[in-house]
Amino acid sequence: MSSLKEPVVIHKGLDNVYVKESKVCFIDGEASKLFYRGYSIEDLAEHSTFEETAYLLVNGKLPTRQQLQDFGKLISSHRTLEPGVLQLLRSFPTTSDPMDVLRTAISALGLYDPQPATDNINERTDKALRILAKTPTIIAAFDRLRNGREPVSPQLNLSHAANFLHMLTGKMPDPYDAHVMDVALILHAEHEMNASTFSCTVTASTMADMYSIITSGIGTLRGPLHGGANEAALKTVIEVGDPSRAEEYVTRALAEKKRIMGFGHRIYKTWDPRYVILKKLGAELASKKGETKLFGTAVAIEQSALRHLAGLPVFPNVDSYSGVVFHMLGIPTDLFTPVFAMSRIAGWTAHAIEYLEGNRLIRPKALYVGQTSLPYIPLDARGTR
Ligand code: ACO
Repeated sequence: MSSLKEPVVIHKGLDNVYVKESKVCFIDGEASKLFYRGYSIEDLAEHSTFEETAYLLVNGKLPTRQQLQDFGKLISSHRTLEPGVLQLLRSFPTTSDPMDVLRTAISALGLYDPQPATDNINERTDKALRILAKTPTIIAAFDRLRNGREPVSPQLNLSHAANFLHMLTGKMPDPYDAHVMDVALILHAEHEMNASTFSCTVTASTMADMYSIITSGIGTLRGPLHGGANEAALKTVIEVGDPSRAEEYVTRALAEKKRIMGFGHRIYKTWDPRYVILKKLGAELASKKGETKLFGTAVAIEQSALRHLAGLPVFPNVDSYSGVVFHMLGIPTDLFTPVFAMSRIAGWTAHAIEYLEGNRLIRPKALYVGQTSLPYIPLDARGTR
């Protein structure tokens, strides 16, 4: 029932709805292009670092040498967890999903901030960077605790990427591994108004604090339709197990109307530019690590799927190789989505801050199609069913 005077258009899934103007990210899904603040993802992957890219996203321009140094120092100074948060991680069931742990621990970080809420944009950004700095520490500490090992303290002189691998394994990472990790973080740092970024934007629009904003993003990223495809793609590669079995797998999966994980994208109707970069790095990593069978299986699945899906606008996306790359870096499979979050906090922050600069509470509508004016039925008069 509706008393609307004007025709209503329902945008299910909010497809093609623009919620703001933005200078953070541009995707041309027809031309395989991705830009952060105007800089191509290819240039950033080749020349930048995660710290520099995070600065670019959050502040809108590339830093000077001094600004980059100061930013790096600020991030590393926030890496150590408050004893209360570490104690909390120790108290969690070791069987907990790491995304649930991350969501809860980031929420708890706000309890140790003497003034979590602020209207000041600079203070909001500082709080977001505090969260960004501590996220790798939370992920690595929980992974070690659940395996009966003590957390490794953050190293202040290592990059975001190298420090994470060090805290995870307890060993100084190979420089090439640290480089690949750094590029993977750059590639995942931002992707326009996806579901988790929208969640963060909605929460920001209520003027909620930064801990609530980032926690919203984590909750949304957790869903298998958003953050989990790389995990599923790796599982497929491991199950297929050998390049010679790829064709049989793809034929059967498509005959059973299953989707090939790591293929297709709502925006890219051609190659995902992040896939191109990650595949190249993955090939080098595989030959260094002697993981050529695993990598070769991923390539064989890709080639077979491309043959079968020819004619459809379905191409490999970033997840076709990100899981394989994370696996070769020694990252446990259920940490892939937390690692995605660890990087995406930069993009979430950039969008939340940008939205707040001309804030308008996000409050869409639902078209009511139920009844009205029903007579209230007393409980005793409702029967048994
Ligand atoms: N495998 C097989 N067929 C596919 C795939 C796939 N991975 N993706 C799309 N198709 C087919 C669809 O069946 C559909 O065919 P039809 O028209 O005959 O029904 C056609 O291609 C168009 O697909 P849509 O569903 O319209 O594509 P949409 O843009 O809605 O979906 C999505 C995009 C959800 C990512 C989809 O491609 C998919 O499920 N892929 C697998 C999961 C995945 O890799 N997700 C990661 C995305 S990247 C990221 O989130 C970081």
